[in-house]
Amino acid sequence: MHSHPEAADTLIMGAQLYDGTGAPPLERDVALRNGKIAAIGNLSNWLAEEVIEANGRALAPGFIDVHTHDDTHVIRAPQMLPKISQGVTTVIVGNCGISASPVALKGDPPDPMNLLGERDAFQYPTFAAYIEAVNAARPAVNVGVLIGHTALRNNHMDRLDRTATTAEIDGMRAQLEDALSHGALGLSTGLAYGSANAASTEEVMALAEPLAHAGALYTTHMRTEFDAILDAMDEAYRIGRHARVPVVISHLKCAGPSNWGRSTEVLESLEGARRLQPIGCDCYPYSRSSSTLDVRQVTGDIDITLTWSTPHPEMAGKLVKAIAAEWGVSQQEAAKRLQPAGAVYHNMSEEDVRRILSHPATMVGSDGLPNDPLPHPRLWGAFPRVLGHYARDAKLIPLEEAIRKMTSLSARRFGLVQRGEAHVGYHADLVLFDPARVRDAATFDNPQQPADGIDAVWVNGVLSYRDGATTGDRAGHFVARGARSQGDAHGAF
Ligand code: ZN
Ligand code: CU
Repeated sequence: MHSHPEAADTLIMGAQLYDGTGAPPLERDVALRNGKIAAIGNLSNWLAEEVIEANGRALAPGFIDVHTHDDTHVIRAPQMLPKISQGVTTVIVGNCGISASPVALKGDPPDPMNLLGERDAFQYPTFAAYIEAVNAARPAVNVGVLIGHTALRNNHMDRLDRTATTAEIDGMRAQLEDALSHGALGLSTGLAYGSANAASTEEVMALAEPLAHAGALYTTHMRTEFDAILDAMDEAYRIGRHARVPVVISHLKCAGPSNWGRSTEVLESLEGARRLQPIGCDCYPYSRSSSTLDVRQVTGDIDITLTWSTPHPEMAGKLVKAIAAEWGVSQQEAAKRLQPAGAVYHNMSEEDVRRILSHPATMVGSDGLPNDPLPHPRLWGAFPRVLGHYARDAKLIPLEEAIRKMTSLSARRFGLVQRGEAHVGYHADLVLFDPARVRDAATFDNPQQPADGIDAVWVNGVLSYRDGATTGDRAGHFVARGARSQGDAHGAF
């Protein structure tokens, strides 16, 4: 029979293999061939063009960043260093109601679509045009795509401070259905923002109706994360029940000092709803948030750091209250003069962050803002911060559980087939890291820093990052929605 040894493209020998399901690691060799995991076990009789000695370091499925605003970045900066350097191998774009496609702008992008870039960054009137651009750019990471409610509103409405008419909803639905037929993962909303806040629950319910048939889901930056958060959660559940689709609550948090400590209540609400319908959430591991500078949130009760301002770029890095003092005006007035602008809000309690992050229904998503010149450090640090700071140093959760929140949980929820787990036949998206050294290096003062301890990253079998630098090879592409695993949607949640 076959006396010759089997051959692989790459062999990773002697790893502590985390399969992504939350199971403890096992010492294994892993063979990669043609972009897939070809074998797992004792592979000492195998040959390969490239052999990597893991020496007992951790090997895990590549991390899935379920909450990104990398829509235009995957095309304009396809090396994707902020993400590949964390071990991220797939990003999900189109969150918070804003997506780069399908978009036809009438002028400048409305807030917060401007987080994705300026007017010239929006070049994808159809979803098919966006897929083509992603694949032509050949980004270092795979790209799953949500369609943004605010983007659709802006395509079909003359003004965004009202709810949509039936005819406008029909127009939005047709564009959503077209995107779903091309493999979009679902619909996202950003109901807290001025550009979508006037949309009624009924508008979103009607728009969400095509999702179930497509096997897609609904994600939401809720109407509020402040005092009325439980009502906002109820609204999200209601939309999910109406459309019979799973719901992901984006960057779940208790925002604002009057709301601190309420994560127990919030998670009780989530658990109650989860008994009746599939619902999950994501969060980033920091107690400060970031977005465009919202004048309504400049109430004087928390510190707010300016990260960018179109009329006053020289003020970036300063507190809004310091800018106001310098100008001799109120903080509200200063915030108005800084528009359009971006900010970091010191608006969560550490205790709430830990409680939400450690909940079994919570995935990790960075919410990184790649176009921000002084980005919140979550852009470069979210995943290693969970592995190093929270799992290893603070002992908040076991390492295998931290990995599950970044891999299998995410892939199953979003319908990313044969990703998020390390099994034979799965796509060879893998990260090799040192559990003793892995650490986020990005800080608020110095946010554009690659993590320590991420040794090698493979995307679709191609070694894409090694020892602190990209290899120059990029193998990511658009990934279409597949059937959600585990039979029924509920099991995956
Ligand atoms: Zn958001
Ligand atoms: Cu977001």
